Amino acid sequence: PLPPPYQVPLPIPPVARPIGTVGGADVYQITQRAAELEILPGLRTPVLGYDGIFPGPTFEARSGRPIVVHHRNELPVPSVVHLHGGHTPADSDGWPLDLTLPIGDRGTAWLHHGMAGDVVAGERAHRYPMTQRAAQLWYHDHRMDFTGPAVYRGLAGMHIVRDDVEDALPLPRGDRELPLMICDRSFAADGSFLYPALDQGMRRVPGVDERWMAGVLGDVVLVNGAPWPFHEVDAARYRLRLLNASNARRYRLALTVPGGPDLPIVQIGSDGGLLAEPVEHAYVDIAAGERFDVVVDFSLVPVGTVVTMRNLAGAGGAADVMQFRVVRAARDDSAVPARLADVEPLVPPSGATVRTFRFARGAVGDHKGWTINGTSFDPDTSLADVPLGETEVWRFVTDVHHPVHVHLDAFQVLRRGGGGPGEFDRGWKDTVDLRPAEVVEVAVRFTQHRGRFVFHCHNLEHEDMAMMATIRTV
Ligand code: C2O
Ligand code: CU
Repeated sequence: PLPPPYQVPLPIPPVARPIGTVGGADVYQITQRAAELEILPGLRTPVLGYDGIFPGPTFEARSGRPIVVHHRNELPVPSVVHLHGGHTPADSDGWPLDLTLPIGDRGTAWLHHGMAGDVVAGERAHRYPMTQRAAQLWYHDHRMDFTGPAVYRGLAGMHIVRDDVEDALPLPRGDRELPLMICDRSFAADGSFLYPALDQGMRRVPGVDERWMAGVLGDVVLVNGAPWPFHEVDAARYRLRLLNASNARRYRLALTVPGGPDLPIVQIGSDGGLLAEPVEHAYVDIAAGERFDVVVDFSLVPVGTVVTMRNLAGAGGAADVMQFRVVRAARDDSAVPARLADVEPLVPPSGATVRTFRFARGAVGDHKGWTINGTSFDPDTSLADVPLGETEVWRFVTDVHHPVHVHLDAFQVLRRGGGGPGEFDRGWKDTVDLRPAEVVEVAVRFTQHRGRFVFHCHNLEHEDMAMMATIRTV
C-alpha cells in the first residue's frame, strides 16, 4: 500500500567532502554499493547507490578548479559513471563500454557482444577539469545496455558548479536554494523497485518487455528519493534547482495554491547555467535529463498557505510531486536581477556544416529497438567527426517523443517545428525534448577535448535499446 502524498519530509542529500588535494585538484572517493533504504514508510527498498544512498552525495564544485573522483565498485554488476553536462575529457566521460568491474570480479560474464572498452577492475579515477560556467549537472550510471535499470535502482546524484558571476548576484542561497531531483518509480508490495527488465540480473540481455518499449513509467514521484515529500519554507524567495532524473517521464510542473492563482515560476537558468535574463512561466515542461533553475516567491501567499507542485502532464500518483508549506514570515534580501549573465549566442556561419539525425523506432539485430539514422549504437562508427571550435547546425528529426542529449558541450536551440526556439529552449542546453513528428535545429560547438563521445536519447529505455551514436571531436 502506498502512503498518502505529502507525509514525508524532503531529504537534502549530503554534500560530498573531498578527502584531499592533489596538484590543485580536490580528490573525492565514492563507493558504489548495494544498500537497503526506507523509501516508503515501514518498508525496505534494495537500492544500488553512490555511497549506498539515493540520491548520491551532491558535489559542490568551483568553475576552473579541477576535481578527481575515485569511484570504487562494490556493486554486484559493472558500472560506468557519466557526469551529465560536464565538459570532460573522453577518458573520464563514462564511455558506455569503459566498464569498472565489481571488486574481485574477473569480468568474463560482462563483455557486451564481444565489444570491449577500457575495462578496469574495482576502481576508476575520473578527472573533471570543471572548465565551464556555473550550472547544475548530475552524475549517473551509463553502462551500455543497462543504464535504465542501473539509474532506476538508484545510481544518480547531483553536481553543482559555481562561479564568481553567479556569486555576485543576489539570488536566494543557503537553505533557500534547494536541489530537487525528481523521478518516478513503481514499487512491489515488499517495497522493492519494480523494473520490467528482461534480465533482472542486468547481465547480458538488455531492454524491457514489449509493453514498455516507449519507456518505463512509475506511479510514485520521488523528490530527492522521498515519495511526494513536503518542505517547510519561509515566506520568501527560494531557488529551486529542478532535475528530471526519471527514466522516461516528462513533467509539466506548476505550483498550485488553494483558491488562488498558481505561483509564477521565474526561470533563471537551464541545463548549461544562467540565462541572460529571467523569464516568467506559468509552468515548466521538463523532459528526462533536463534541468531548470527557477526562483519562486513564497511571500506572494499568506503564511499558512500550502503550495503544491503538481505535474499537469500526469495522472494518478504521477500528478502529485511535492508540497511547500509556508510556515513563517521572514526577512528576504534576495532579488532576481533583470540581467543575470552573459550568454554568447552561438551563430552558425553561412556555409556551416549541417547534419541531420533521424530518431526512430527500428530493428536492432534480431530484436526491436530504437535507432539514429537507421543504425543502432556502434562504438566504432562515428556518425559525425566534428572539428573543435567550429559551429555546426544539427537537425534532429523524430517519430515520437525523444529527449536528445549530447555529451561534452552544451548547444543552443535555433528552431523548433519551423518556428523559433520553444518556450523552454532558452539558454545553453545539453538535452532537448523532441516532440512527435518535429524537427529541432540546434547550434553545436565543441570547444575542448579531442576524442570519442556519444549522443543519445535520454529516455533510458530507448538508450538501452541502442538509440545512441558515436561522435568524434577532431
Ligand atoms: Cu545523462 Cu549520456 O547521459
Ligand atoms: Cu527516445
